[in-house]
Amino acid sequence: APIVCVAKVQSGPIISAHRGGAAYAPENTLAAFRNALRLGVDQLELDTQLTADNELIVLHDDTLERTTQCAGAANSKTLEEVRACDAAYWFSPGQATTTPGADLSHPLRGSGVKVPTLKELLGWYSALPCGRPTLSIEIKNIPGETNFDPVGDKIAKVLLPLLAQYQLESEVVIQSFWPITLIQVKSLNSNLHTQFLSTSSLGVTAAVNIADTIATGQDISSPNFDAPDFLAPVIEIAHAAGKQVLPFTPDSQADQQKTLDVGADGVITNYPACTLQILNRE
Ligand code: G3P
Ligand code: CA
Repeated sequence: APIVCVAKVQSGPIISAHRGGAAYAPENTLAAFRNALRLGVDQLELDTQLTADNELIVLHDDTLERTTQCAGAANSKTLEEVRACDAAYWFSPGQATTTPGADLSHPLRGSGVKVPTLKELLGWYSALPCGRPTLSIEIKNIPGETNFDPVGDKIAKVLLPLLAQYQLESEVVIQSFWPITLIQVKSLNSNLHTQFLSTSSLGVTAAVNIADTIATGQDISSPNFDAPDFLAPVIEIAHAAGKQVLPFTPDSQADQQKTLDVGADGVITNYPACTLQILNRE
């Protein structure tokens, strides 16, 4: 029988490699996840979208043009069409995100880096020995209605059976910017851990994020890191309610340090090697 791992025991702040650590390797690719594993992070963060033929792929944007040479909505393409795209096309080492058209070097362009399928990622991950980093999988969607989320529902109904098939439920957390999506995930499998993301640009402050995380029964609060001075008191409230707080995405050393200093349970960052250095874990 295949070995079933349990989530590794975490000691100290969680270092979550955003999109696999997007500053070091093409975001959301196996090259990035392999690199993050080699660095020694605690968690691999990734995004999922559905293709037109209902395959889950590891991709952040709704469209292909920021990260690849292809264009158009990912959910209008078949998997075969997505696999023809070069996922390293706009990657520039050291940049947290890609900027199509910018005058930067693209050393991995044309080297065969593909948009992974989620199955491919889970297959790679399942073959790693136990004690491996956990997986934080974001359902990328925008709910069409306030009390039902057709896209999130569709993704969850493909994603959850896959996690069950690979027996990874205890090592995975499901993230979303939409509480309704997380409520739906919990209703399909109450054992899955969930993480509520928000940005103050959407009008959801860290305080509101923490309150909603508690009120809707999610496990982890993930506000934007941008106001660390206001985080300390609300982190205390989250901790008292038994919730972790994992802000995204402090990238500079100063922002990472500040986020950790106010009591966050870790950071989700494009530069996890910097966090390893801050925590003397290199
Ligand atoms: O994990 C949090 C972070 O991934 C949310 O932002 O837009 O990079 O998916 P985004
Ligand atoms: Ca994400």
